[in-house]
Amino acid sequence: MHFKPYIQNLPPYKPPKLIAKQPIGMTKLSSNENPLGPSPLALAALQDALGNIHRYPDAGSLALRTRLAEKFALAPEQVMCTNGSDEAVFLLCLALLREGDEAVMALGSFISYYLRTLEMGAQPVRVPLQQLTHDLDALADAITDNTRLLFICNPNNPTGTSNGAAEFSRLLERVPAHVLVVVDEAYVEFVERADYPDTLAELRRGRPNLIVLRTFAKIYGLAGLRLGYAFGSAPLISYLERARPTFNVNLLAQVAGLAAIDDEAHVARSREHAQASRSFFERELRAIGLEPVPSATNFTAVHVGDDMAVTVALMERGFTVTPLGGWGVDGHIRISYGLQDENVRFFTALRAVLGK
Ligand SMILES: Cc1ncc(COP(=O)(O)O)c(C=O)c1O
Repeated sequence: MHFKPYIQNLPPYKPPKLIAKQPIGMTKLSSNENPLGPSPLALAALQDALGNIHRYPDAGSLALRTRLAEKFALAPEQVMCTNGSDEAVFLLCLALLREGDEAVMALGSFISYYLRTLEMGAQPVRVPLQQLTHDLDALADAITDNTRLLFICNPNNPTGTSNGAAEFSRLLERVPAHVLVVVDEAYVEFVERADYPDTLAELRRGRPNLIVLRTFAKIYGLAGLRLGYAFGSAPLISYLERARPTFNVNLLAQVAGLAAIDDEAHVARSREHAQASRSFFERELRAIGLEPVPSATNFTAVHVGDDMAVTVALMERGFTVTPLGGWGVDGHIRISYGLQDENVRFFTALRAVLGK
C-alpha cells in the first residue's frame, strides 16, 4: 500500500474522553451542543419518516435547499446541503486547494480548516488572534498570489469572540478575486451584536468570492444527524456540488432539517437559554477571580493556567470540557453551556478543582 504522506502525517482524531478514565454519569460540556435537545418538530417529523429509510435520500436535498433559499432570500442554486458543515470545509479544500497552494486562517480557530488544508498537500498560513479575536487586517495582509482560501470563523470557535460589519467590509475590499472568503457562521443564531456582518446581503448583491457556512448542529440541536448548509454564488455552488458524494445528506437529516428550520419556538428557547447561561457563566467565573472571554455563542472560554490538568481534573469530577492549548489558545478551556442544574454543578466542580 502507498499511503499519502499528507494524510499519514495528520494527528489521529482523539476524542477527549480517551485522555482520562470516564466516570459514569458524565456531563458533556465539550462539543457546543444544544442542551435543550433537538427541535420537537424535527423529532415528530423523524418519527413519521423512520419507515422510509429503506429508500435513498433525495441526492440533491431539493426540498431543503428550496426552503433554505426561500427563508434567506437567495436562489436555490446558491444553496448546498452537506453532511455537517464540516463536510463543506472538506469539499472547499478538496475543490480549491492544489499541492503548494495556501489557505489563510486564524491560529486559534476551528481546527478543520487547518487539518483539511494539510490533507490536500496545501499550506495553512495561520495568523495569530488579536485579543482572542480574528485580526481581519492581519489576515488580509497574509494573502499572497498563492492563497486560494481565507477562512473566517465568526463567531469564532473556540474563543467565542466575533467580528463586526465595518472591519468585515474593509476586509472584503482588500481580498483579491483569486481568493475565496469562507465565513463559517456555525453560531450565527446566538449572536446579539447589532453590527454583525450581513454576509448574505453580500451574496444577494452578487459577490462571487464569498461562501457562508451554517449548520443544524448547534441551535437546532441536530448534531448527531450531521446536517450543514452553505450559501454562495450559483457558479461556485454548482462547482462544489460536482465534488460531493452523491448521497451526502441522509434521509433523516433532510426530514429533520426541513422541520427544524421552521421551529421558531425551539430556536427562541435555545437562544434565551444560551443568553441566560452566558450571564451565569460570566458572573460565576468572575466570582472565582477568572475573566471570561466575551462570547457571542453557546460556550465560554476562560484562562485557567494549566488547561490540560484542569480538564482532566474536571473529567474526574464528571464534566468534559475542551482544553484549548492544542488549538493555539494556551492556558484556556472552553465550556459549552449545559442545562442550568448542570451549570450549577459544574461550578461546584470547578471551584473544587481550582481550590476556590
Ligand atoms: C465553527 C464551526 N464550524 C463547523 C463546525 C462543524 O459543524 P457540523 O457539526 O455541522 O459539522 C463546528 C462544530 O463544532 C464549528 O464549531
